[in-house]
Amino acid sequence: MLEPVMEGRGFYNQHSELQARSAAEADAVLDRALAAVAIPPGPLTIADFGSSQGHNSLRQMARALDRLAERSAERRDVMVVHTDLPHSDFTSLFVMLETAADSYRRGRDHVFASAIGRSFYERLLPAESLTFGWSAFALHWMSALPLALRKHIWPVEAAPDEAKALAEVSSADWRNFLAHRAEEMVVGGQLVLVIGALDKNGATGLEPMMDLANGVLAALVAEGKLGADAYAAMTIPSRPRTENEFTAPFDNGELPTLALAELMIAETPNAAMLRWQQSGDAALFAADITGFFIAAFGPSLFGDNTALRDLFTSRFTAAIALAPGEIARPLVTATLRIVRGA
Ligand SMILES: C[S@@+](CC[C@H](N)C(=O)[O-])C[C@H]1O[C@@H](n2cnc3c(N)ncnc32)[C@H](O)[C@@H]1O
Repeated sequence: MLEPVMEGRGFYNQHSELQARSAAEADAVLDRALAAVAIPPGPLTIADFGSSQGHNSLRQMARALDRLAERSAERRDVMVVHTDLPHSDFTSLFVMLETAADSYRRGRDHVFASAIGRSFYERLLPAESLTFGWSAFALHWMSALPLALRKHIWPVEAAPDEAKALAEVSSADWRNFLAHRAEEMVVGGQLVLVIGALDKNGATGLEPMMDLANGVLAALVAEGKLGADAYAAMTIPSRPRTENEFTAPFDNGELPTLALAELMIAETPNAAMLRWQQSGDAALFAADITGFFIAAFGPSLFGDNTALRDLFTSRFTAAIALAPGEIARPLVTATLRIVRGA
């Protein structure tokens, strides 16, 4: 499996407005976490799990730094840790932190930034060192693919036998993430997680877009422009979870020190859809959606094959522009607040 990092050289930072707008819906949960989080003595550590190139979490990191400062009697040194997979574009992350006008580093000389290039399904931080953790649009990415889907590129559309194998990996990933964070969090520490989800109707909002992408790839196979074997190997290792899947490790007592304080699964605004509804500009909508798709899923599907990626991009963009209403949907996410007890 290709490591499911985002499109590099800063492309993800430039094409991830959809994720940023959707994650903003978690602000109230974020504020509740920051009002309640226990603040231990000494230097503090906060983390952004699955940060990619980092621009989308600047706002949440700044908010956390400000709330922790307001709630501390004296000035605290704070380490902000950005974690992602080893092949992620950490260069763009660090350049952005130094140059962006909205970087949380500006005007905060007691705040330090670092990064860890290792899967968050592994242990990342020293025991009882993490005060607050944030993660958005990262925890639906799977640690491994047990198989490639026969007829689709996206796990939500898997056949029942395929779906079972994928669900097992996804379940183990979720448990591993939580178990490692339980070790790393301070007592009274908090996590806020925004993760792709299925609502009560089984919808994620991405189905029509994924069906269209799958159809474009199938057409390329039919035209002899993409090998059938290459298509068969294409599966995006990203699997949204149901409410029961989120709550299972908490319900059966596997994580005695963690409590699920809040879980909301809801539709969130799709920034490209809102812009299209206001402007009526189908070409702009198609460009927005294609940028979102390639930034997030391009590396998993196309790897280094830029010619195939570019051919797909032109076909996909044209197909969206012809019928934007077919794929314009709100994005379903789960927002979770998790508290580490004694
Ligand atoms: C869609 S991006 C989200 C980036 C950012 N958090 C945001 O809200 O826009 C998903 C990120 O999760 C990372 N990721 C996927 N699996 C991971 C894992 N096992 N460990 C750490 N990061 C992972 C990817 O490399 C990617 O950078």
